[in-house]
Amino acid sequence: MQNKDIPRKFPHDFLFGAASASYQVEGAANEDGKGPTNWDVFSKIPGKTFEGTNGDIAVDHYHRYKEDIRLMAEMGLESYRFSVSWARILPDGDGSINEKGLKFYNNLIDECLKYGIVPFVTLYHWDLPLALEKDGGWTNKRTAEAFVKYADICFRSFGDRVKHWITFNETVMFCGLGYLKGAHPPGIQNDVKKYFQATHHVFYAHAKAVETYKSLKQYGEIGITHVFLPAYSVDDTEENSRAAEHANAYETHWYYDPILKGEYPPYVVKHLEEKGWTPDWTGEELDTLKRNADHNDFIGLNYYQPIRVEKNHEAVSSIEHSRETSTLVPGSPSFDGFYRTVKMDDKTYTKWGWEISPQGFLDGLHMLKARYGDVKMYVTENGLGDEDPIIAGEIVDIPRIKYIEEHLKVIKKAISQGINLKGYYAWSAIDLLSWLNGYKKQYGFIYVDHKNGLNRKKKLSFHWYRQIIETRGEEL
Ligand code: BG6
Repeated sequence: MQNKDIPRKFPHDFLFGAASASYQVEGAANEDGKGPTNWDVFSKIPGKTFEGTNGDIAVDHYHRYKEDIRLMAEMGLESYRFSVSWARILPDGDGSINEKGLKFYNNLIDECLKYGIVPFVTLYHWDLPLALEKDGGWTNKRTAEAFVKYADICFRSFGDRVKHWITFNETVMFCGLGYLKGAHPPGIQNDVKKYFQATHHVFYAHAKAVETYKSLKQYGEIGITHVFLPAYSVDDTEENSRAAEHANAYETHWYYDPILKGEYPPYVVKHLEEKGWTPDWTGEELDTLKRNADHNDFIGLNYYQPIRVEKNHEAVSSIEHSRETSTLVPGSPSFDGFYRTVKMDDKTYTKWGWEISPQGFLDGLHMLKARYGDVKMYVTENGLGDEDPIIAGEIVDIPRIKYIEEHLKVIKKAISQGINLKGYYAWSAIDLLSWLNGYKKQYGFIYVDHKNGLNRKKKLSFHWYRQIIETRGEEL
């Protein structure tokens, strides 16, 4: 039954979309002048990815984008979030432009627009030109300056048609997995100083890209996407509540404060000073953050799960690094040993051990509102990773439908409670390559048959999502 305080339909300016990322869908790793990336190399190191899967072919979106966009249009998608591969545009990171790279994205954008699908473009979804990675990657300021150049080229080349820009996807993931866990490139473990340095360069690069974008007066919007991991204490004891506050400071405030407040959270800064982990930052860099804090148009939230935390009492040196801990399965201590994530008996988890908690999202949205006010937000990723059942040739992904349905319901409720949410991008539009879980962990509305020439097939969720979009979520 419909709650009378919640509007029946989603607002007319709310975008229903779905997302992808270049490395995970495109393939064509060595075609048309694209330069090599960190992931092209990292994924070939034995043992780094599930069954040695890599993005050389992925789901061949590079060659099949027309078919894919046609299917998205048939699904009624209002917006498609995809990322640009930096190394297609600037093969060595900051040198000369590869015209064929520009052409591919021009075609992709035009194809979206042909069907009235709004392109929502992410500039950096983890595939870094190899030349920059070799020169220190995000720990080197050169990468930040190179990013600004690359962003400027994208704004000038695509900005007449692209009006929604995300600079970075999930800084905590590519920096944390890259410099603390060693599960993503550059594969470094436990280098806390480098981790914070890398995040600082990302925020600086973001702020400069925002400044550049605004100076071009293209009158679109620009923001950044982080994975949103609201932390909740497992009980109401003081020590565990403090552990949750600590987790929120490190996992959320560190990522949104420099963007929206233009300065780092004092609680974390104090610790970093005590431990000798403070990034080498200059006055000019800190001013750049400050100057641009008011210029962000929105923040993107990739929400999959909350974290349940308790105070950790084990020695930090016992931190294990496995694919499991690196993909956010509860049960490991934080890098500084302050708290640990916990799997709770009364919660529901996916096959990959991620908690399913729409309520955790709703509470988290209020937490964000309390700290950052009425900033505009998009859910830039949300979805269920599963091994989809195939019954009589049909992909019957009912658990995915349930998952998305429950999350859309709380989003509708959140809007009615005054949360400024303007769109929802399911992860993912099409089945794609999971960075560490290969093709086994599926997320899409569109199935890709790896045994049969990468043929596309509509899943049950495809038809369901079309209905939701058509009726603007009236039934939810
Ligand atoms: C997000 C990333 O963190 O999680 C995506 O932005 C990723 O690129 C998604 O695919 C799901 O992760 P996984 O490990 O389940 O494939």
